[in-house]
Amino acid sequence: MKTTKDIFPAVIIGTQWGDEGKGKIVDLLCENANMVVRYQGGNNAGHTIVINGKKTVLHHVPSGILRSDIVCVIGNGVVVDPEILLQELEGLKNNGVSVTPQNLIISNSAHVIMPYHKLFDKLKEEAASAGKKIGTTGRGIGPVYTDKASRKGIRFYHLMDEKLFRDRLHDNVIEKNDYLKAMGHEPLDEQAIFDEYMKYANKLRPYMKDTTYLLNEAVKNKNVIFEGAQGTLLDIDFGTFPFVTSSNASIGGVFCGSGIPANKLNSIVGIVKAYVTRVGAGPFPSEQTEGAGLHMQKVGHEYGSTTGRPRRCGWFDAIATGYSIMINGVTDVAITKLDVLSGLDELKICTGYKGPDGQITKEFTCNITELAKFEPVYETVPGWGEDITGVRDFSDLPKNAQTYLNKLEELMGAKISIISVGPGREETFLKD
Ligand code: GDP
Ligand code: IMO
Ligand code: MG
Repeated sequence: MKTTKDIFPAVIIGTQWGDEGKGKIVDLLCENANMVVRYQGGNNAGHTIVINGKKTVLHHVPSGILRSDIVCVIGNGVVVDPEILLQELEGLKNNGVSVTPQNLIISNSAHVIMPYHKLFDKLKEEAASAGKKIGTTGRGIGPVYTDKASRKGIRFYHLMDEKLFRDRLHDNVIEKNDYLKAMGHEPLDEQAIFDEYMKYANKLRPYMKDTTYLLNEAVKNKNVIFEGAQGTLLDIDFGTFPFVTSSNASIGGVFCGSGIPANKLNSIVGIVKAYVTRVGAGPFPSEQTEGAGLHMQKVGHEYGSTTGRPRRCGWFDAIATGYSIMINGVTDVAITKLDVLSGLDELKICTGYKGPDGQITKEFTCNITELAKFEPVYETVPGWGEDITGVRDFSDLPKNAQTYLNKLEELMGAKISIISVGPGREETFLKD
């Protein structure tokens, strides 16, 4: 890729288990963009942007907000916790970032995270037996999407209409209190929730819009980035179910979470960490709990941006990542955190999975019972010792780093177009 000017409309998608560096790449591509749209997930996301050494972590707000000329849109597929969103907006304001209804628009069809969603998330995790806990972020994501699917959910246009909101809240409280009673938990206070949420409604009202026409118009004449949250292996359909999130983090989420048609996307940028991390429970074939895994965790500061939990780390998995590339139709890969691998004598790449019958497969499976039967097969390549954070051209990378990337490109089956060698906006370069 010679320039990022021609990539729009583009989607940024995580290809692993999240935290690939989506926020950083979105911020970078904003150089030539006009609009950034979130389309799924909620404040389970934590997207980090580092500008001149200053770190900002965004949860609901799209990663274009730090640039004054970008319009940010929270699409209909997103789930929003109004209390936390308002805190996020306050935090941005305190850091000198102006957020107004001109640069932040929220779909009035997005679903609202209610106090009982957060409570249910917590209670269900606590009640789950060992081995069945998902390790959620505790933000109420599963329960809010459950209510969406069961048609009980509250959308912002319900919240904005006092009568509608009271009615839907009442039905929900009755239903939820039945469950709470069975759990021996005290019931919900309907009036208290109503009063609290009316305050949020009044504060958020100016940001509300039906965003479907707005986005369809925008993709015709503006440079739009669709910003994914989570990663494809956490996708509710294609991820390692049930150890997944509750939305479509893969490409399909763009369309149902924004209302733009599939033929409008020009580029599908897959964000690929140079190794793999995962927060929370669930299978992770190339996980390394010692040695290189500890190096990645320490050097890569692999602690969750949302919950602060240590991230599990492991070798690059070409099978899992290749599966994501296939599902999403990735046109360009952005490799992140290559710098973190500096100092490892040798690197391993998972190039296949060996089954109990000794056969090696190149296919990933979202069936975790089957996945658990596989042993990763590794190819070992030499590492490099040099600090590469100052490199700005592929040819200046150590030869072994070049070989590593060429190998990943070949194994993943997608072209590497962007390389990131540090958290800062400037620590990035394009590759032909
Ligand atoms: P996201 O959820 O995909 O946006 O990723 P997170 O922000 O949760 O996690 C990525 C972390 O890696 C953040 O702390 C980033 O600042 C950092 N980061 C992003 N790209 C690079 C890189 O190329 N090198 C290093 N060392 N850190 C990076
Ligand atoms: P970003 O956008 C990493 C994980 C949780 C848990 C599972 C389900 O920053 O990449 P949930 O709260 O969604 O019901 O939790 O999904 N998870 C993430 N892991 N990055 C994220 O977001 C994540 N969002 C959810 O750790 O395993
Ligand atoms: Mg993150």
